[in-house]
Amino acid sequence: MEVRIRRGSRQDLPAFLEAYREAYRGLEEYSYRSRRRIKAYLHWLITRDREGVFVAEVGDSLAGFICADSNWVSDTGETVGAIHELVVRPEYRRRGVARRLMEAGMEYLRSRGRRVIELWVGVDNHSARRFYESLGFRAGDVVGKWRRMLKTF
Ligand SMILES: CC(C)(COP(=O)(O)OP(=O)(O)OC[C@H]1O[C@@H](n2cnc3c(N)ncnc32)[C@H](O)[C@@H]1OP(=O)(O)O)[C@@H](O)C(=O)NCCC(=O)NCCS
Repeated sequence: MEVRIRRGSRQDLPAFLEAYREAYRGLEEYSYRSRRRIKAYLHWLITRDREGVFVAEVGDSLAGFICADSNWVSDTGETVGAIHELVVRPEYRRRGVARRLMEAGMEYLRSRGRRVIELWVGVDNHSARRFYESLGFRAGDVVGKWRRMLKTF
């Protein structure tokens, strides 16, 4: 399977919406459900940091996407790199697509001088947690149903 990574843009939003809905089936407690809320969220995501959006394509299909943010102020007061969203459609999983997207996102954040990357994962989202641990993220504190994960370079 040949995976191509490219920058994403507003034109990708309809495909992001479908991928997001597919990817969070079974994980509804950690996601928005109505199309209206998802659209608003995706719009927020791509406007936070337009250069931090990357898409994985297999042939003509969108396999997944990531939204990295090089200018996020953490609740600790520190400006960090953040991964706000990462999605891989179920049919493309366990083939390294998310890893490729994270490499693109982390390289971008490093190029912007970020030395700490933060993200939040649902406490029962074990697949995602294992995935981030496989990339060297360590688990941090829990706030409500979310666990902070951090990687420092
Ligand atoms: C988490 C997610 C992005 C992983 O995508 P993926 O493309 O399947 O991940 P990769 O193939 O790149 O996985 C790389 C490594 O991560 C780990 N990993 C990934 N999924 C895993 C799972 N379900 N269980 C255990 N380990 C897993 C493995 O070490 C894997 O390497 P291996 O396949 O050689 O064992 C995908 O499952 C997804 O979209 N989930 C729903 C949305 C979500 O939870 N997003 C994260 C929000 S914080």
